[in-house]
Amino acid sequence: MLEHVQCDVTTCNSSEKQQFGEDMAVRKKLIAGNWKMNMLHTDGAALARGVVAGAENASCELLLCPPSTLLSWIAETVHGSTVRVGAQDCHEAQSGAFTGDISAAMVRDSGASHVILGHSERRHGLGETDSRVQAKVEAAHGDNLVAIVCIGETEVERDAGQTLEVLSTQLDGSLPTSGTITGANTVIAYEPVWAIGTGRTPTLDEVRAAHAHIRAHLEASLGEEALQVRILYGGSMKPENAEKLLTIENVDGGLIGGASLSAENFLAIAAAANV
Ligand code: PGA
Repeated sequence: MLEHVQCDVTTCNSSEKQQFGEDMAVRKKLIAGNWKMNMLHTDGAALARGVVAGAENASCELLLCPPSTLLSWIAETVHGSTVRVGAQDCHEAQSGAFTGDISAAMVRDSGASHVILGHSERRHGLGETDSRVQAKVEAAHGDNLVAIVCIGETEVERDAGQTLEVLSTQLDGSLPTSGTITGANTVIAYEPVWAIGTGRTPTLDEVRAAHAHIRAHLEASLGEEALQVRILYGGSMKPENAEKLLTIENVDGGLIGGASLSAENFLAIAAAANV
């Protein structure tokens, strides 16, 4: 079994805290690649090695989320580097008759430290509900995985002016209510459904408003801890638009689909997160 790596925590150390003031969080940016249903052993390892080669120039955290068939392989490939590995989903049960699924413990056992949950391709393509996502987040935390919880409005909801309301509902329904959410175990990914894989993105003001809303909503339930929770933007982020998106207040990184399938593009986005 591979050595299990605990991800770097998002928070600043105590001298940095003093420098910035106790209540101002310094959240290290996270650039996460969601490979979706792409890559076989050889090209996956080549991609991971390419990312590792550029990782030492990155001041942000880098995470690769390959398909489950490659989790152990990619964890081995990046072993010894700062690059982390995450799964794209896990089941909420610990074990049992769930053909085709993998548990949080299996994800952990593969050498991964993170898991993406509630991605829109699962919510809308496979009918995953908020309460199902919530159960999965609890399972992920139970096995010491960092849960990357995806939320985002459809185009119809945006056109109807319901974006912020949808985000609140998804946060309330998808996050455990047991008071266990911290900046170390949970990341939120704001991904407008209509921006995923389409080449379209919201305006910078729309992204700013969505992220500010998510931060405020988290603060209402988590208090100060909400300042430690990273909020990623996802949906057609690429080298050309990354710097503009990543310098918006409360945008603490990106969840990258298409552009993460090239080490060059992925590292160019990571470089934009360094500024
Ligand atoms: P995209 O995908 O970057 O290809 O739009 C993002 C995602 O689905 O996480």
